[in-house]
Amino acid sequence: MIPSSASSDASSLLGPAPSGKADSFFLSAADDDDLGLAFADVELGDGQRWTTWPAATPTERGPEPRPAWVVTSAGAVDTELGILKTGKEADVFLLERAVPGDPHQRSLLAAKRYHGAEHRSFHRSAVYTEGRRTRNSRDARALAKKSEHGREVAAAQWSLAEFDALRRMHELGAPVPYPVQVTGTEVLMEFIGSPDGVGAPRLAQVRHDPALLADLFAQVAELMRTFARAGLAHGDLSPYNLLVHDGRVVVIDLPQIVDTVANPQGLDLLHRDCVNVCDWFGRQRLDVDAETLFGELVAESFG
Ligand SMILES: Nc1ncnc2c1ncn2[C@@H]1O[C@H](COP(=O)(O)OP(=O)(O)O)[C@@H](O)[C@H]1O
Ligand SMILES: [Mg+2]
Repeated sequence: MIPSSASSDASSLLGPAPSGKADSFFLSAADDDDLGLAFADVELGDGQRWTTWPAATPTERGPEPRPAWVVTSAGAVDTELGILKTGKEADVFLLERAVPGDPHQRSLLAAKRYHGAEHRSFHRSAVYTEGRRTRNSRDARALAKKSEHGREVAAAQWSLAEFDALRRMHELGAPVPYPVQVTGTEVLMEFIGSPDGVGAPRLAQVRHDPALLADLFAQVAELMRTFARAGLAHGDLSPYNLLVHDGRVVVIDLPQIVDTVANPQGLDLLHRDCVNVCDWFGRQRLDVDAETLFGELVAESFG
């Protein structure tokens, strides 16, 4: 059972909840010393599954070099620890991926699951999706028909778009969660928060010391420059999509990332990002100007 209320207290999920023994897995000798416990000793409870890592193709996995904390063992178990946030387009869960019995192979992930067929369509509009790839013509037709399968395909496209954007921005050195894996409608990424599963607050939620504010703004402007130098804008930037962890800003929620040069709405969206950010810092009494920032980022985009 997954608790339906937002919770940083994961303990309620960790009680014994035995279900069927996993007998469909076997080990090769090479994998064996990887594992804390043999598969046969592991019983999956509610809210648990075997790691989805082995089934992912190379393009569905995060860029190399991979951080040391990424758990790649086939003997790992994914355990849902709770919901970080439910949303209109996606829900974000806290997930532990760990090898039972091996304290050195334990990671916390944020699992962002886009709503598929059972939910309604997205409000994120077509302005973002020009030129987006579909895997095959069946998918393209399903999208056009808005069938159940079409909605599933659309959700998977958003997760793929977010994963691709995270990978790209990670490679450019922007402060984003490390993208671990994408599978269908689910993106797995680095959890930004404390080791006991308390998520980092959004910029909007924190009362900031005035001296810190200028530094936070400088970090946001710098990450916007990183996007701009690649000809990109976040496209939905706001103090809700910026997390603050140990004084460092991390930007999230990237599926609608836009090409400021090729997309006809690109500069408008970049401008809106500047206004959203500067309005918030302005309300915190920091002297910032959206037009100045916008001008600087446009110069970076075309520079
Ligand atoms: N990698 C992460 N680490 C920690 N918390 C996260 C992470 N990704 C998302 N969250 C939490 O989930 C919320 C929603 O995620 P977001 O990607 O902004 O989705 P939405 O489309 O619902 O706005 C965030 O505001 C944050 O609180
Ligand atoms: Mg968001």
